[in-house]
Amino acid sequence: KIMSFQFDPRQYIRTVPDWPVQGVQFRDITTLLEHKLGFRQTIDCYVHRYFEADIDAVVGIDARGFIIGAPIAYELRSSFVPVRKKGKLPGETVCESYELEYGSAEIEMHTDALKPGSKVILVDDLIATGGTMLAAARLIEKLGASIVEVCAIVNLPDLGGSRKLEEAGYKVFSLCEYE
Ligand code: PRP
Ligand code: ADE
Repeated sequence: KIMSFQFDPRQYIRTVPDWPVQGVQFRDITTLLEHKLGFRQTIDCYVHRYFEADIDAVVGIDARGFIIGAPIAYELRSSFVPVRKKGKLPGETVCESYELEYGSAEIEMHTDALKPGSKVILVDDLIATGGTMLAAARLIEKLGASIVEVCAIVNLPDLGGSRKLEEAGYKVFSLCEYE
């Protein structure tokens, strides 16, 4: 299913079977980023979508969310705020843990990175179980900012992440899906 107007990023995304473990179809966006026009069209989809939404900050998730989040923020004339894996940010932080396939992980954001009431979009490359995106959304809520939409290039709806995010009250936008 194509969600974006006239642009399907799947033509540029490489699928690597059984990586990093047996049974996973890894959706590799590096081939999309390498494609000059594909990269540009991807960024432009978000810029057009949010251009008139008066976005204060684009929040990008470590690490692949940084790659698309920063150029979107630049074009929207908004600020860019990184959500980082634990232990990387030097200032005072808020922290959330989330479940991975094996064990759990923690992400952080600087406490002073967002003003209460500011309007943000939350960006990552891909939504699978939604654990990462939901934890990042909780960090934003802790600082009192308001999430206009959570967005990704790829959604894997069969893994339930987008449904979980919608049930938690977030609007979810992706450019494409894989079954
Ligand atoms: C990947 C991907 C998302 C997350 C999606 O990141 O970039 O952030 O997994 O999975 P989920 O919806 O089940 O939480 P990863 O943790 O592999 O980190 P990376 O960006 O540093 O490669
Ligand atoms: N992160 C979680 N699941 C993924 C997948 N299938 N492809 C790429 N990144 C992922």
